Amino acid sequence: MSDAALRARAARVIPGGMWGHLNAARLPANYPQFFTRGDGGRVWDADGRDYVDLMCSWGPVVLGHRDPVVEAAAARQAADGDCLNGPAPVLVELAERLVDRIPHADWAMFQKNGTDATTTCVTIARAATGRRTVLVASGSYHGAAPWCTPVPAGTTDSDRAHQLRFTYNDPASLGQAADAAGGDLAAIIVTAFRHDNVVDQELATADFARTARALCDRHGALLIIDEVRAGFRLHRGGSWEALGVRPDLSAWSKAIANGHPLAAVTGSAAHREAARCVFVTGSFWCAAVPMAAAVATLDQLDARDVIPHIERLGLRLRQELGALARARGVGLRQSGPVQMPLFLFDDDPDFAKGFAFCAAALDHGAYLHPRHTMFLCAAHSQSDIDRVLHAAECGLRAVRRLG
Ligand SMILES: Cc1ncc(COP(=O)(O)O)c(C=O)c1O
Repeated sequence: MSDAALRARAARVIPGGMWGHLNAARLPANYPQFFTRGDGGRVWDADGRDYVDLMCSWGPVVLGHRDPVVEAAAARQAADGDCLNGPAPVLVELAERLVDRIPHADWAMFQKNGTDATTTCVTIARAATGRRTVLVASGSYHGAAPWCTPVPAGTTDSDRAHQLRFTYNDPASLGQAADAAGGDLAAIIVTAFRHDNVVDQELATADFARTARALCDRHGALLIIDEVRAGFRLHRGGSWEALGVRPDLSAWSKAIANGHPLAAVTGSAAHREAARCVFVTGSFWCAAVPMAAAVATLDQLDARDVIPHIERLGLRLRQELGALARARGVGLRQSGPVQMPLFLFDDDPDFAKGFAFCAAALDHGAYLHPRHTMFLCAAHSQSDIDRVLHAAECGLRAVRRLG
């Protein structure tokens, strides 16, 4: 069935035709709403068109769609059972894998979505300290629960009580927020790098990361790194390892199981008791198939040396696309880690240029996003990057035509 026919049916039975960030109405008009297949670094839409996929399911796909090793591990577990009366042995195996690989981690707990993991971290931090106030960077996304959703419809002021804001990468504003929290500071929660919607991405500076750690130590508060988007793409064990800063708690999801639904919280020994005493759970949090997929994914990330591969491809894309844009006199800003790029255009307040760029690129076989982090994966090849560069060149011509 065609994308148009599916949309017409969905309009009758799904509020808005699709909810949240996945509503294709937020994208250029030629973008598909429905996908029928993914394989390696490609996806197919309901009309049978295939694209080099630079969204990777918004991050979860890190090895490639339907990775054979991961799917074989998932199938073996599925043959025994997925949703049982309690966890399968693979729960312990996965927790051991995380504790072995993540330097700050002495224990792990599992959930389904990134929002579950960030919310669990905040709950543990409050339980650990007996305090309420959490510092959250303005504009950072930590999920869609009432305490953190960026769209306040249906939430109350009290859902967001006991939060103070700071500016990402601004140690002074972090210090001011910590002072304002005074003796009530429970935690600082911070994304692994600045990847707020529609603004240039920024890696965390060492000064900012060290200030966050020092403030938490001084106030007896917990440092939480939200690794949901960046986790396992920047560093094998923790995105701030390169900065020499370790958190007390980390929230993981997306890439952890190569597309299978899983999230995790890891924590240091000092907070084991707080993690034990909070009551956090869900009917599907112990499902064994995603955990088997996660064990295989983590092993394959190492076996295939994925991070250097996606860095190489991302660097080539950044350099060659930058040269194409300069040659055409188009003001294109590429930001963030090369393996998680964002493309924004100068003088583009309403995203007309970004939309024209992505619409043309889509027509030439590359699925990009006009204002969100994109993702490279292990299955992408140099020839995929060739195709993306060709599609992007068509996109740049479309931007030029806008004047
Ligand atoms: C940094 C970050 N935290 C939390 C979340 C929420 O994850 P989920 O959508 O799986 O609940 C996201 C999702 O994009 C994210 O990027």
